Parts: sequence; C-alpha cells; structure tokens
Amino acid sequence: MSDQKPRKLRSADWFGPADKNGFMYRSWMKNQGIPDHEFDGRPIIGICNTWSELTPCNAHFRKIAEHVKRGISEAGGFPVEFPVFSNGESNLRPTAMLTRNLASMDVEEAIRGNPIDAVVLLAGCDKTTPALLMGAASCDIPAIVVSGGPMLNGKLEGRDIGSGTAVWQLHEAMKAGEIDVHQFLSAEAGMSRSAGTCNTMGTASTMACMAEVLGVALPHNAAIPAVDARRYVLAQMSGMRAVEIAREGLALSKILTREAFENAIRTNAAIGGSTNAVIHLKAIAGRIGVPLELEDWTRIGRGTPTLVDLMPSGRFLMEEFYYAGGLPAVLRRLGEHGLLPHPDALTVNGRSLWDNVRDAPSHNDEVIRPIDKPLIEDGGMCILRGNLAPRGAVLKPSAASPELLRHRGRAVVFEDFEHYKARIVDESLDVDASSVLVMKNCGPKGYPGMAEVGNMGLPPKLLRQGIKDMVRISDARMSGTAYGTVVLHVAPEAAAGGPLAVVRDGDWIELDCEQGRLHLDIGDAELADRLQSVAPPREKGGGYQRLYIDHVLQADEGCDFDFLVGCRGAAVPKHSH
Ligand code: FES
Ligand code: MG
Repeated sequence: MSDQKPRKLRSADWFGPADKNGFMYRSWMKNQGIPDHEFDGRPIIGICNTWSELTPCNAHFRKIAEHVKRGISEAGGFPVEFPVFSNGESNLRPTAMLTRNLASMDVEEAIRGNPIDAVVLLAGCDKTTPALLMGAASCDIPAIVVSGGPMLNGKLEGRDIGSGTAVWQLHEAMKAGEIDVHQFLSAEAGMSRSAGTCNTMGTASTMACMAEVLGVALPHNAAIPAVDARRYVLAQMSGMRAVEIAREGLALSKILTREAFENAIRTNAAIGGSTNAVIHLKAIAGRIGVPLELEDWTRIGRGTPTLVDLMPSGRFLMEEFYYAGGLPAVLRRLGEHGLLPHPDALTVNGRSLWDNVRDAPSHNDEVIRPIDKPLIEDGGMCILRGNLAPRGAVLKPSAASPELLRHRGRAVVFEDFEHYKARIVDESLDVDASSVLVMKNCGPKGYPGMAEVGNMGLPPKLLRQGIKDMVRISDARMSGTAYGTVVLHVAPEAAAGGPLAVVRDGDWIELDCEQGRLHLDIGDAELADRLQSVAPPREKGGGYQRLYIDHVLQADEGCDFDFLVGCRGAAVPKHSH
C-alpha cells in the first residue's frame, strides 16, 4: 500500500536541523529517555487521548494507547501520546455538548502546533468522536480513529439491560408505580459492569459506526467490545497503519469526501442511529469543506430499512452486534442490494469501503436483519419544516410510535427545563394523551449547549393510566439511548427568537412526518405579531459560556462556532524561540 516515496514530514521542521532550534526541540524530548537514533526522521505519530476518570466511558484509554504505541513502534514510527479535553456525557453539566467545540479547538491547536505527522484519535463517549474528528479535519492531516468500544451487556435479574435505555424505562416504571425506588436503584451496577461506552445504539455507538463507514477507522472498529482482546489488536493495527498514512500523506480530505458522508447518512438509517449524528456529521463536514444539508438526510436516508435490531429501537446490544458480524456485515448487506451510495469510497486502510466489506460474514439474522425482513421499513431520519421550524427539526421514526407520526394536538408549554420539571408533576395540569408537550430555551444558546432533555418524561398521571408515548417538541437534543415521538433540534431555537418562543398553551400544532411538516396553527399575522414581543435573550455569563453563546451556530448548521467552520490546514507555524 505504501508508495515509499520520500515525503517531507512536518516533524522534520522540528527535529531535522542541526541548529539552535533543532537542539532545543530534541533536547527537551530527550528528558523522556529517547535515544538519539529515534530522531532519524521517522514519522512522529500523535496519539490524541481523551482518557479521563471523569469520563468513565474513556477511562480504559491508557491501556488502549499502549497497544497503539506498540503498533507505531513496530512499523517504525515514533509515538507521542498527548491529552486533550475529555467531555464525558454522564458527569459533565450542563451538558457535554457545551464543550464539544472547546475540545475540537484543543485538538486542532495541539496537532498544528506540535511535531506530528499523523494522529491516532482515541475517542469513545458521545462528544469525543466528533470533537476529535472536527479538530483533525480542520488540520487535514493523516488521521485514524480508534474507538474505545462498547461495554458488555448490562445485566439485571438475569436479563440484559441497555445503557441509558434501561434508565428511561425503569424510571417511567417507577413513576407509574410498577417498581419501587429500591428496585430502581438496584440496576445501577449491573447496567455498567465493564469498561466501555454505552452498549445501546446510542450516540457513542452511532458515532463509532459513523467513523467506520466514513472510512476513518479500520473495519470492526465500532463494535468490538471494550474488554475484548480483539479491541487491543485493532488498536495495534491502527498504530501500524498510522505510520503508513503519515508516509503516504493520506490526508483526511481524501477520505472525508461528500461520497463518504452520503454513505454515512444511509448507514445511520440502517443501524437505527442517533439523531445526534445529524448535528455531528454536519459539523465534521463543515470542517473539511464538504457541503451537507438537512434535506440530504431525507434524500439519502429516507426509504432505507433499519437492519440492526438494537436498543433503543430494537432488542439487542452492541455485544450481539459484534458477534453477528458488526458494521461490515451491515455494509455488505446494503451494498449487495444497491443501497450503498458510494462503494468505491476510499478508506484509511487504503482500500475501498466495498473491498473492506464484500466478504464480511453475517452470523445472526435476528440481530442484523435481512433486507426483506427489516426491523423498520423506513428507518431514515424525518426532517421537518414549517412555520414552527423554518430552519428545520428532526425526528427519529424508528424510536417513535407509528400512530403519532401524523398528529394534531394542543400545546402544553414549558418555558424552560426548570418550568417543565416543576409543572409536569402537577396533578391538575390540563393535559391528556393527545396533547403536545412543548419545551423552549433548551437549544444551543438557550440551555446553553443544547442538552439532551428533549425526551421529556410524560406526566405521572398519564403514565399511571398506561400512556407510553406522546408528541414532544423542543429545541433540545435527545440521548441516542432514548425513544419516543420526539421532535428535536427545532431551528431557530427559542433563545434565538425562533417561532418556538411564541407557542402558547392551547395552540394547535400539526405534525406530519410523511410530509415533513411541523405547523403552528395560527395565522401569519398573529405569528408575526407574537414574534414582535419575544423576550430579549437572557444573561450570557462570562468565560467560555460567553464565547459559546456569542458564536454557536444553530442545529441545522451543526452547532459549530461560526469562526471554527472550515479547514485551516497544518502548515508548520513559526518557531517558538
Ligand atoms: Fe459515555 Fe454513553 S455516557 S458513551
Ligand atoms: Mg448521550
């Protein structure tokens, strides 16, 4: 694969010259015990590590990094591991999404400012994958993703339970009076019983699959369990390959093409992937200069059958997905039925996507369904527009109730998340199963950070009546592990003066997924009149939050910062001394 043509490596600008600067760059590195001969011009491979004990999903990454290093050394490279901001979904408040862009800036500047010829991106928990890809894409250097892998199946009383999904289910069961608080809490340890990311097809698994289908990770990267020895083999192989792509100069822009993103959108439907992918793919595409619109999700994704029967849409977990053949088996099935838009897309191992998967075996038709026996006939994202969402909104039909995908109901409005929490438990709340729950001020600027609060829990009094789902609408996101007929990412958001801000209790709202329509049933004049009196934005606060609110783009633009969109390359900066 390697063309072996001598290329000028970035790191040669640091470690090559026999002058004062070269002395300084080499000498300080030697305090780590690096012998002279390692500065012989071999490729320097960065290992960008999101390890943190505060990001439990990535807490095993130092061990993975050791195996990556083994591969880099074996292939004649020089490994240098460096930390970047680690945004863990479970602990970070108000939401890990607030710091996705911060982490991406960290990654970009760390790569460009240092003697790095190629980079291995160690990503796992939801936001770490897009953050690392966004930062690396803005540098456009050779890069390869190694994911941390999913946790083993959760266990409760002898049955399997899925990360996140079980929390939503058990919590609803407790509110409905079906289980008590002790039964609820007893699920904690069994749900998260090994290293790794959420084992459902939540955002972490989705983004790991996206990295694999985009071609920036080796085959099977997405599904090998975190604690399976084969995860470490893949890490070593990725380290070896990183040295070759540094020598070949296989920059990210050769892989992250428009064709690759089209493959990813199609695949997201086939795996029943998270709505968060809509935002993250847009942000990554923006960094590498690939145009991507919300309507691409309709054009490319709609009509695609969901083949992967994983929670939250289906029954199984990532362990079964790997044992059934993983993403290569899914891609082969799509390709054999003409459903892979661009089988010739180049991947990081130097082969085409199709070459990687054409012989991939499938071992379990329950987990990875045949094309003619899909979990869901049309698993594509539903993109909605209308006077309530002029710049779009998103709904995941595979996680919704089919009978609610076309619905007209009266709004029950919550001004923000706190208002929702206080009001939803009010037994006198004027709400029934046909109502539409509307929540404002949970978008990028409003929350801030667009938290995963869009899957509002239902009113307890309706849960006790056995109601399982209702239409919910907000400018928030939803955890990829969650489910329900939930309209998300309404743009513009309420805090940016979008029409969502002026919905009132009792307004009629119409949702029609087939038509892609989200309509507030009031006259144009009335809507314009109400928009006149939208309250001014709230206090921004200081620090990073201020920067975020001032510069974050809306959901339809991927929630990147306006000044971060685009590729700035990896030209070697001026000397530091
Ligand atoms: Fe980290 Fe789900 S909370 S992957
Ligand atoms: Mg999440």
